[in-house]
Amino acid sequence: MQEKRGRFITLEGGEGVGKSTNLNFVTQWFESRGIDFIQTREPGGTPLAEQLRELLLQKRDESVDPTAELLMVFAARAQHLNRVIRPALAAGQWVICDRFTDATYAYQGGGRGLDKSLIAQLEQTVQGDLRPDCVLLLDLDPEVGLQRAANTGEADRFESEQLAFFHKVREAYRARADADPARYAVIDASQGLAAVQDQLAAELDRLVVQP
Ligand SMILES: Nc1ncnc2c1ncn2[C@@H]1O[C@H](COP(=O)(O)OP(=O)(O)O)[C@@H](O)[C@H]1O
Ligand SMILES: [Mg+2]
Repeated sequence: MQEKRGRFITLEGGEGVGKSTNLNFVTQWFESRGIDFIQTREPGGTPLAEQLRELLLQKRDESVDPTAELLMVFAARAQHLNRVIRPALAAGQWVICDRFTDATYAYQGGGRGLDKSLIAQLEQTVQGDLRPDCVLLLDLDPEVGLQRAANTGEADRFESEQLAFFHKVREAYRARADADPARYAVIDASQGLAAVQDQLAAELDRLVVQP
């Protein structure tokens, strides 16, 4: 039966919005309800895809061509999706992923200015019809997010971008949520952690009861 398939949930948002912090909250929420799930992330999620992540995040002297960056993101995604995400969903497990294709629309589309139709083509090629069942978008002023992220280690190639880049990233995320409100939950990440997590729990409750 179709209903055996697990649900695919992603956590999205710019730097320092609280994705990693709240991923732990979400996994604890699943554990406490006895829901079978896997936790993963993008870029990454398999040994090969994690190596591609390293290549993507490393700061380098060479200027990285945006299309080359985009193809590396989707190369990692194809491996992750076909070796990890699809098998888990088919086995009835829920999948909770720290970033997915919305991040590509936000960073490579919004931030780098690549054509959305090019991203959509690759999305269709790599994913077919598979899309997240629910995108939990943590929305935050990038100035606040970057300040939070500054306390969590040295800046990578993306974190080293200028503020204007992150404003474009935020706007691209919000535009995607606005265009498909049924599939996105926009959460105000400027709130304290308890308020953010109350809202996350409400979204998860809603998903669990949904047929
Ligand atoms: N709602 C919040 N209010 C204040 N600080 C937060 C909140 N959520 C996360 N943080 C802090 O912000 C920093 C970045 O959070 P993190 O989860 O690593 O963000 P991301 O994974 O989205 O980059 C961490 O130090 C975290 O403790
Ligand atoms: Mg993180």
